Amino acid sequence: MKTDYRISHQSEQVSRVYDEVLYKQGTYDDALWRWEQCILEKEITLLQTKATPISLLDFACGTGRILTFLENKVNNAVGVDIAEEMLSRARQVVQNARLIKADLTRIDALRGEPFDLVTAFRFFLNAEPVLREEAMAVLFQKLRNQDSLLIFNIHGNLWSHRVFTKIGLWFRGKRLSVSTRREMELLARRHGLEMARWYGFGILPKIAYRVIGSRIAHGIDKILSHIPGMRFISYDLVFVCKKGIVKK
Ligand SMILES: C[S@@+](CC[C@H](N)C(=O)[O-])C[C@H]1O[C@@H](n2cnc3c(N)ncnc32)[C@H](O)[C@@H]1O
Repeated sequence: MKTDYRISHQSEQVSRVYDEVLYKQGTYDDALWRWEQCILEKEITLLQTKATPISLLDFACGTGRILTFLENKVNNAVGVDIAEEMLSRARQVVQNARLIKADLTRIDALRGEPFDLVTAFRFFLNAEPVLREEAMAVLFQKLRNQDSLLIFNIHGNLWSHRVFTKIGLWFRGKRLSVSTRREMELLARRHGLEMARWYGFGILPKIAYRVIGSRIAHGIDKILSHIPGMRFISYDLVFVCKKGIVKK
């Protein structure tokens, strides 16, 4: 049975593996992260033409990966997470951002505080359907105005090399979380958000990063990411949403 996502990271071991194994230099996730950084930089530059000062909310901030990258590019940053174990790692690396331990879907620990930029990385893929809806509803409310951005990702597009892993695991009776751009677009839309643009990265299978080396594989994936249409079959999708469609 799948673990409750709210408690899935409330463990010292999980938080350690997250930083020291998953995002170790040269891993597949590290390669995705380097690409995500380019996207975030590009989006911040665009946002600066619409909103200054910029206040950032990093929802489900975990060990502070996104926050440490963005905190000095914005004027005010807050990270919120439910897991003390993840936050205690974030406290060691975050310099300026406020860190709050809270489940925003249950308690509004940021009442009356609007944000120009809300980020939510590596959250929606594995969150249960009800939690996805609850989180999206809250994040919509946290956006200041029509220029404010919600940027989130799914690190498991079904229509990428992940589909082969999924099928392989299925034969062994195991499950693997997957999602699609369409699913995320509909989720956003149900909560009054429109997808302004989206990006994709990660055509080569993970094994290529081990076989030919992370640097070469990352270089090839970077070239592939510039080819039109490749984002549809990319592993990691980043979505940029704005308040738009009237909530039904
Ligand atoms: C995979 S980690 C992602 C961390 C970070 N966003 C990143 O991309 O590196 C997912 C995080 O979501 C947090 N989380 C799960 N449910 C939550 C909730 N209801 N409210 C806040 N954080 C939550 C977990 O504690 C965990 O730290």
